[in-house]
Amino acid sequence: MRNLAVLTSGGDAPGMNAAIRAVVRTGLSHGLNMWGVRRGYAGLIEGDFRRLGARDVGGIIQHGGTVLGTSRSPEFMTHDGLELAMHRLRGTGIEGLIVIGGNGSQRGSEALHRLGFPVVGIASTIDNDLSGSDVTIGVDTALNVALNAIDNLKVTASSLQRTFLVEVMGRHCGYLALMSGIAGGAEAVVLPEVEFTPEALAVHILQCYERGKPHVIVVVAEGAKYNAEGLCRYFSEKNLIPGHEFRSTVLGYVQRGATPTCADRLLGTHLGVEAVEQMVAGRYGVLVGIHKSEPITTPLEEIVGKDKPLDPWFLKMAEMLAR
Ligand code: F6P
Repeated sequence: MRNLAVLTSGGDAPGMNAAIRAVVRTGLSHGLNMWGVRRGYAGLIEGDFRRLGARDVGGIIQHGGTVLGTSRSPEFMTHDGLELAMHRLRGTGIEGLIVIGGNGSQRGSEALHRLGFPVVGIASTIDNDLSGSDVTIGVDTALNVALNAIDNLKVTASSLQRTFLVEVMGRHCGYLALMSGIAGGAEAVVLPEVEFTPEALAVHILQCYERGKPHVIVVVAEGAKYNAEGLCRYFSEKNLIPGHEFRSTVLGYVQRGATPTCADRLLGTHLGVEAVEQMVAGRYGVLVGIHKSEPITTPLEEIVGKDKPLDPWFLKMAEMLAR
């Protein structure tokens, strides 16, 4: 192999730049020509490639987002889109591709792999919903943003004895909500994975106040049955907790664009190096992730479309500690 390309795809995640830098510099150290694909799979089908040297990836490790740009490209997953992508890659002499991204992005990797193109995926999404990695690039930073917000909201909530419902990202997965709820000392978490009713939550909130709590913080996953605003409205309209006021805060995209934490820079670097080592060793069609602090590989077909269940012990822990 002489020419290796890298792209970032789907939602940007803090730490992606560390992974790009590691991929490029590891490839260069193996004597490869390194290429960057701009704007993910959209750039791949347009042939938007450029050669990358060591200096091109200098000064990026500390920045959120992705210097290559990213996209969600439904066109890529069509028969014509995939054919065009293969044509562009082969036309440029690119013999391998590293895909840094989450679930949808690795579905694209697997499609290219099935067509016989050498691909290695790197587990990257703030949602942590990708099996094949204990934790994915961007999760730690997104959690820290949520924690800052929860800490700040607690101060205000205590001053006014209010209930705050904080909505965090995560798509259909409750991982970010669960972990930020535990680490932020929230009184309750509302998750897509766990059945709940607003009435039962209202009883729990009332009990918290009866036990002398000065505030109640409820972390709501964006994929849950009710969103934070909806719950607020429901509580007020039904007067479920008389005499109490509710406010909602939606964190949304601020969780994605933050400066990557040390953990995310190290994870991006670790997985970036490992992905190139796998490629150079001829082990394609795998996702590179982390398990018990060691890099691991999983065949792409085993991770695509697979749910990653929440650890039941953490669910139990959240319940036990919210007193
Ligand atoms: O996958 C990352 C994520 O930020 C999810 O948490 C969220 O549901 C989604 O992307 C938002 O997607 P988009 O950037 O397309 O609006």
